Amino acid sequence: MIDYTEKIPNNVDLGRDRGLQRALEHWQPAYMGWWYDMGPNESHNFEVYLRTAISVEPDGWAQFGYVKMPEYRWGIFLQPRDEKREVNFGIHKGQPAWQEVPGEYRSTLRRVIVTQGDTEPASVEQQRLLGSSCPSMYDLRNIFQVNVEEGRHLWAMVYLLHRYFGRDGREEAEALLARRSGDADNPRILGAFNEPTPDWLAFYMFTFFTDRDGKFQLCALAESGFDPLSRTCRFMLTEEAHHMFVGETGVTRIIKRTCEVMKENKVEDPAQVRALGVIDLQTIQRYLNFHYSVTLDLYGSDVSSNAANYFTNGLKGRFRETKLDDDHVLSEAEYPVYEVIGDKIVKKNVPALTALNERLRDDYIEEIADGVGRWQRVIDEAGIPFKLMLPHKGFHRAIGNFAGHHISVNGDVLTAEAWDKRKHEWLPSPADEKFVQSLMTGRVVEPGQFANWIAPPLRGINSKPLDFEYVRFN
Ligand SMILES: [Fe+2]
Ligand SMILES: [Fe+2]
Repeated sequence: MIDYTEKIPNNVDLGRDRGLQRALEHWQPAYMGWWYDMGPNESHNFEVYLRTAISVEPDGWAQFGYVKMPEYRWGIFLQPRDEKREVNFGIHKGQPAWQEVPGEYRSTLRRVIVTQGDTEPASVEQQRLLGSSCPSMYDLRNIFQVNVEEGRHLWAMVYLLHRYFGRDGREEAEALLARRSGDADNPRILGAFNEPTPDWLAFYMFTFFTDRDGKFQLCALAESGFDPLSRTCRFMLTEEAHHMFVGETGVTRIIKRTCEVMKENKVEDPAQVRALGVIDLQTIQRYLNFHYSVTLDLYGSDVSSNAANYFTNGLKGRFRETKLDDDHVLSEAEYPVYEVIGDKIVKKNVPALTALNERLRDDYIEEIADGVGRWQRVIDEAGIPFKLMLPHKGFHRAIGNFAGHHISVNGDVLTAEAWDKRKHEWLPSPADEKFVQSLMTGRVVEPGQFANWIAPPLRGINSKPLDFEYVRFN
């Protein structure tokens, strides 16, 4: 159970470690300052129907109620410890899982935790203006839920930094509040987290694609031999599921509404579709291409000695490591990666240990493909002859073997000129973004009402009706 009588709710017996408690209580006002500055714009007085974690058990861990977001009880929640847990891969395989940071891996682990932690406040910053153009109260509540949970994920990482990394950890925790998404001088660490999220289509795409990268990274870290990191990530994953739900169903509802309007009015031409106040499927495809490609970059280089070291040293595992049926050491195995040679993309086998980024990216792509297949079903069921596609893995990449090359969505290697000529067939143009944003100029705030460009969801949150007052504006 979680202790909510403490200033910082937690299930780690924080009160027993006075020094740590003081350090975190010192960080807390800085965090609140960040939330007031960079959290959802003009939202501080709203009462939002939010879920709050009350237990880390998988059944019934959350409680729903109205909360003013600055009063959300951000806290530190770890999955319970399994005394028998071992390091499950790499050269330390079979040793008891580490309860303290092994000295030789200290700086690497700190870097891994900081990189993960940095993404959490970044997405809140990216989304901070979207509340003023929400398509419904239901959606407004959902984005706020995502935002407060990303804030909690920051707490999760900051706890690890403070508890296990001493003064360096405390300095990193402060730096996490100092960087800003998109800032020229002090940006967030990873590229996708410096891209703007200027509208709700981008938001749903982000939560579908980029929060799912979060899921895969957390799954890999949940395998870590460093047990507190594993237990932290396991609990974060239960929250992440809702973020991906918001993204997938958001895009589904946009597609559904577009298809309804296309059918009712018997139009297929994108300009005519737009004239009816909904987002044409071609634009949805371009947003998909953009968010997919920038998110693929988050997995890093196809061949990486860092990734090999993380694995060999037991710091970061593969997706579902313990369910995989192999030696968990990967001393002999190979894995295919792709390279651009001349105007061809060629496959080549490399030691599997060095290709772990690529492997995690492939696991991710598999799950993404399933989700896009579910979107396609909505179009098929409407009888509209349009096929969504996932672009080639090399399309619009800035990191890894495809970086510096110009790959089309079909995997053709193009010249820079040919790419430039065609890039807005594949990526949203400023005009596309302007159109999408023209649909989202104000808040839809009547309970049960939805903007014209999106269908209502199938059901409300926590079995509440669709016309429930999910946000009280005061
Ligand atoms: Fe997160
Ligand atoms: Fe998330």
